[in-house]
Amino acid sequence: VTGGPDWAQEVRRLARERNATILAHNYQLPEIQDVADHVGDSLALSRIAADAPESTIVFCGVHFMAETAKILSPEKTVLIPDQRAGCSLADSISADELREWKDEHPGAVVVSYVNTTAEVKALTDICCTSSNAVDVVASIEPDRDILFLPDQFLGAHVKRVTGRKNLHIWAGECHVHAGINGDELAAQARSHPDADLFVHPECGCATSALYLAGEGAVPEDRVKILSTGGMLDAARSTGARQVLVATEVGMLHQLRRAAPDIDFQAVNDRASCKYMKMITPAALLRSLVENADEVHVDAETAAKARQSVQRMISIGN
Ligand code: 13P
Ligand code: SF4
Repeated sequence: VTGGPDWAQEVRRLARERNATILAHNYQLPEIQDVADHVGDSLALSRIAADAPESTIVFCGVHFMAETAKILSPEKTVLIPDQRAGCSLADSISADELREWKDEHPGAVVVSYVNTTAEVKALTDICCTSSNAVDVVASIEPDRDILFLPDQFLGAHVKRVTGRKNLHIWAGECHVHAGINGDELAAQARSHPDADLFVHPECGCATSALYLAGEGAVPEDRVKILSTGGMLDAARSTGARQVLVATEVGMLHQLRRAAPDIDFQAVNDRASCKYMKMITPAALLRSLVENADEVHVDAETAAKARQSVQRMISIGN
């Protein structure tokens, strides 16, 4: 049965035979996470992809993640089990739009979230992920203007933390995280007064979470704005018995594994990324059997994009 023990055994056998490593993002289906060699957030997986000794990387995640692996390791075969797995956030800015924006701000440093296409990365000075966005912005000389793209909520979070006035923010968003709404979060936080709140910075409700802390509805130290990898670290060290989680629901699987005694509840249990969920057990098996879908990035674009991605993986944790 697809997704069962025979399937997992066959996936592992084919991966060995192909000298492939299987990487899975924290939002993948539980079966995919459990069969993978490595599970992590965007930054951790980029670092693993850059150093992997295997000749093939099977990226169980969305297209920009597999593309980033290919940019870092052009000599490797990079496969994604379904190349239609896109990202609404990456689609919120095109290379042409970025060119125009840069023309309006000559001399500005371009910081792009890793959720962007290879063409956008090629026009970028430094990429970042949600786990190192603050460190990346803090590494730039204070008097330089910054164009931060494409996520408006992550941008607002970085601006709040760094206090940086010359940070211009693109108005993009992820439909999944933007849909986790502040009223829902506030109602749940009020009815679970002892729970921690773990909030991904792509959420529209990140501001509401901080507002709740500001008005004393939730103690400040219980509100944590974190990347998916940061949530796992926080789960291992929090003293809370219950945690309300504002991000894509795939995250609950790793959280429950990391801290089985904590009761993790999704703030919005409909927050599921349809792109992440295109990577089904059947699609992963097909990918290994057929050596498909292969990810290609043209050499010139990859060379330019590589610099911005390499700067990203050298900054922060
Ligand atoms: P992380 O870098 O926190 O894993 O987030 C990736 C992503 O796509 C969030 O929607
Ligand atoms: Fe993109 Fe949002 Fe899906 Fe993450 S959850 S891959 S940002 S659409």
